Amino acid sequence: MAAIDTQRVLDVHHWTDRLFSFRTTRDPGFRFENGQFVMIGLPVDGRPLLRAYSMASANHEDTLEFFSIKVPDGPLTSRLAQIQEGDQILVGHKPTGTLVQDSLLPGKRLYLISTGTGVAPFVSIIKDPEVYDRFEAVVLVHGCRFVEDLAYGEQIVDNVLKDEILAEIIGDKLHYYPTVTREPYERKGRVTDLLRSGAVSGSFGLPPLDPDADRVMICGGPAMLADMVEMMKDMGFSEGSASRPGHYVIEKAFVER
Ligand code: A2P
Repeated sequence: MAAIDTQRVLDVHHWTDRLFSFRTTRDPGFRFENGQFVMIGLPVDGRPLLRAYSMASANHEDTLEFFSIKVPDGPLTSRLAQIQEGDQILVGHKPTGTLVQDSLLPGKRLYLISTGTGVAPFVSIIKDPEVYDRFEAVVLVHGCRFVEDLAYGEQIVDNVLKDEILAEIIGDKLHYYPTVTREPYERKGRVTDLLRSGAVSGSFGLPPLDPDADRVMICGGPAMLADMVEMMKDMGFSEGSASRPGHYVIEKAFVER
């Protein structure tokens, strides 16, 4: 079997000048864990040009979904931003990644902390019924520069809560905390500051972050990841992996396109 498949683009949605999402067909044999990523791309000059993308669809869905930034001179995203319904894209066979449930110790609450396109793996995770079995509360935090950058996440949360089956499973367990840094908005500030100050947990009536009860998944840019890791360590959280589950896991949002 070839290491890369071809899938058909089903639809494309441009959210802003810099952000778009698209759905493709899914090979029934393509299995993944919610939160994982895979290499996807396009043939360029006869060779596959691939980058890592988190699945933004859940593993129980028939189609695949991806959320991407557009970098004007990015070798892949400048081309990927042109794709249209019916086009073919390349999808690798080996999903992988650290944002998976088994890398976390059991806990009461799951915090999903993201900036920018780092929300993509959490879109998959908030659609996972099992997550609501494991945790009493799931808190999705999404920090962006501008209000319009929040649109994709907002729409997904809306859809998830409108889905009859998921809504029943989720009940009142899912808490959504969108925030922006560069223009006025009801929730303002960097995700790091809002977590540290207790603004996030407090707004849902939850206790301050505590390694005994809280588990954290983090996905964003390199500076945000570095600051989050420092904060986690200060608070007594330990990093988890598949071989040794812990209190938090991180993955960089894939933005070098
Ligand atoms: P800011 O506007 O203050 O830089 P980007 O598009 O650059 O990835 O940023 C997405 C969001 O992540 C922005 O709101 C940005 O805030 C924020 N951000 C950037 N660096 C950090 C950091 N070190 N800690 C927390 N948030 C960060």
